[in-house]
Amino acid sequence: MVEHIKTDLSGGILTIKLARPDKKNALTDVMYGALADAFEAAETDPTVRVILLQGEGDMFCAGNDVGEFAAAASGTFQGQRHVDRFLHALAKSSRPLVAAVQGRAVGIGTTLLLHCDFILLADNALLSTPFVNLALVPEAASSLLLPARIGHVRAFEMFALGEPVNAQSAVDFGLANRVVPLDSLPAEALAVAERIARQPAGALSATKRLMHDPAVLTAQMDVESAIFNERLQTAEAREAFTAFAERRPPDFSGSAN
Ligand code: COA
Repeated sequence: MVEHIKTDLSGGILTIKLARPDKKNALTDVMYGALADAFEAAETDPTVRVILLQGEGDMFCAGNDVGEFAAAASGTFQGQRHVDRFLHALAKSSRPLVAAVQGRAVGIGTTLLLHCDFILLADNALLSTPFVNLALVPEAASSLLLPARIGHVRAFEMFALGEPVNAQSAVDFGLANRVVPLDSLPAEALAVAERIARQPAGALSATKRLMHDPAVLTAQMDVESAIFNERLQTAEAREAFTAFAERRPPDFSGSAN
């Protein structure tokens, strides 16, 4: 098992934990590979009734590792691009997926929640999708799922401005089920997972399948991914990644591309 992804199967609940807290659980290619492996294995393991997704430390997930974005932009990235395999596995998962989110959920940290079935937010949760801020486009079928979930104008605001939505607003928008105190998040999420695990698994999977069509979602992911990879190569994206590394605001005053 990869060092930054921890898994534990107990009582029919597969807990998958993002565990790179010193980097706010920013996701690397290696981590996507481990997540894809875990989701693919769960799909063929009848003892997995529910998947519970958590992040270690003070933040759920700071999104894709920006250093790896920069490496992809400069053509020096050596990894496998496991992200597409992970996203497809997420879209295809027939297991009910419960998420427990504390602190920031940025980029894919928020868009993966659109594939979760029951979402608990700690009262300090902040969800954001700052793809445009990085001169990129939305992924994980979020260009379809986010407007469908919260309406076009709210989704456009989240995508275009990249500002965080707080926990109560996220629930009000229909992005999550409930807000709980930070201290009780793990226990409350486990209690929800246990309740779902006691329900008839076949009926749950069939219900989820009716609500969440993998063919539609993976097709949208592939369209997004092609544009995303083009955008990674642009001058404005390179400026965004350089600015992040240099801890300064980006300068997008150059010509549009
Ligand atoms: N990729 C790579 N490293 C990241 C990261 C990311 N997405 N997010 C955070 N980190 C690293 C920081 O570089 C820092 O590393 P260092 O200690 O070696 O300097 C460490 O994690 C802690 O982050 P820091 O920025 O100091 O924490 P913070 O609490 O002040 O801010 C965030 C947290 C998430 C708001 C901020 O780190 C951030 O904006 N990250 C980028 C998010 C992003 O744009 N993701 C991609 C979305 S498409």
